Amino acid sequence: MSNISTLIQKYDVPTPRYTSYPTVPYWDESTFDAHTWQQLVREAFERNRTGGLSLYIHLPFCEKLCTYCGCNKRITTNHKVEEPYIDSVLREWDMYLALFDQKPVLKELHLGGGTPTFFSAHNLQHLLGNILQQVTPAPEHEFSFEAHPNNTTAQHLQTLYNLGFSRLSLGIQDFDERVQFIINRPQTFEKTKQTFDEARQIGYQSINADIIFGLPLQTEDSIRLTIGRVCELMPERIAFYSYAHVPWKSPAQRRYTEADLPKAETKRRLYELGRELLQKAGYIEIGMDHFALPNDALFKSVNNGTMHRNFMGYTTQHTELMLGLGVSSISDTWTAFAQNHKEVEEYEAIVNSGQLPVVKGHILNNEDQYIRRHILNLMCQGTTSWDTNSTYAPLMQETLQRLQPLANDGLVTLSTNNIPNQVQVTITENGKLFLRNIALQFDTRYWGKQANDKPVFSKSI
Ligand SMILES: C[S@@+](CC[C@H](N)C(=O)[O-])C[C@H]1O[C@@H](n2cnc3c(N)ncnc32)[C@H](O)[C@@H]1O
Ligand code: SF4
Repeated sequence: MSNISTLIQKYDVPTPRYTSYPTVPYWDESTFDAHTWQQLVREAFERNRTGGLSLYIHLPFCEKLCTYCGCNKRITTNHKVEEPYIDSVLREWDMYLALFDQKPVLKELHLGGGTPTFFSAHNLQHLLGNILQQVTPAPEHEFSFEAHPNNTTAQHLQTLYNLGFSRLSLGIQDFDERVQFIINRPQTFEKTKQTFDEARQIGYQSINADIIFGLPLQTEDSIRLTIGRVCELMPERIAFYSYAHVPWKSPAQRRYTEADLPKAETKRRLYELGRELLQKAGYIEIGMDHFALPNDALFKSVNNGTMHRNFMGYTTQHTELMLGLGVSSISDTWTAFAQNHKEVEEYEAIVNSGQLPVVKGHILNNEDQYIRRHILNLMCQGTTSWDTNSTYAPLMQETLQRLQPLANDGLVTLSTNNIPNQVQVTITENGKLFLRNIALQFDTRYWGKQANDKPVFSKSI
């Protein structure tokens, strides 16, 4: 067995994706309540008056169920759901606005889903027109949205562009018809290309394409086909996600069997083949799952050290206050997190009764903030270091011990001698596939729990 196969057997274990630290299953809800949350939002707003805030809006509806999907979505063909949902999001936004003593500066706005373009262009105009009236867009603002090419019209693209959106992310996943059939996602290259062409004609600056490796029935040939066709479209960014198999959370994944899924070793080959093809086409791997052309802002943000990772994935800049509106959305004040109710009906009922729909959260203590810095450094820069005289030295000594086997396996280098009292951990080329496992060694909340308490995550590869 090759060295890399042995590593995969060893490290392909359930591991968090680290879009936050602490990860949601380890939030300590005992110190969190809605009143404290509002106070922390106010304080974050005051700290960032001029810098501005980010807004994420979750628009959960889709017309058709893709069986692999792990997102929070609601499948319906009834478009009457649009208006009451938008009314609730606007009410929730009003509750946050009431906490602020001046018009907020808006730095980032992202519509995620579900499928934001399930909503009519007219309803999106109503939602966003109202929100944008109550903010001052920052001079270098970034507005982006996720869309399924099958239901994205030129009218959607034009309406959102007129509102200030300049980036979009299109779901592709796989162009092989056999794979599309088993994941219940028929999507032609022609319709996808039409959406790319229309967006570029209108003036969008950056298009991201989502591709997944590890889907049922995927082979090296289907990855070759998909990446070849995606490269014809030349999106500025590509998210090349590892398929997350979480059937206990997304039961539609039971519509195929585990026998249809590529085994870990094949999955790794699919990733390596994909990476090689993307690099040949001029894309550069940045952070976990992401590739970008060298002229894209995300790649530039790696070089100037501003790239950040949060619940939206990788972003070009860091805003301390990120408000998440809509069902299941997570908000972040940099000192605390809060998550909204995950069911549409309950979310709407709570908001319509005049309360913020936050149902759980976590306030970060000093140790959380210290660990978060290291995990962000690894995820965004591929390296981190610490002072062996710091308050957290004993904790970091344990981390160093946990990292030693990963260093022996060639996934990280540990330098303890270069600068006196400094330890530096750097991810190697081989270690990039195991980024989640490396970050896990720093996760003191995870290591603090008894083995049988540990929640279930998707596997790391
Ligand atoms: C909200 S969807 C994107 C917009 C639109 N709904 C679509 O599907 O085109 C977000 C992305 O998450 C990714 N995704 C969903 N389920 C996944 C899973 N189980 N494993 C890995 N990635 C997944 C897909 O790449 C998908 O494009
Ligand atoms: S992948 Fe996109 S379109 Fe498909 S069910 Fe998930 S959110 Fe909806």
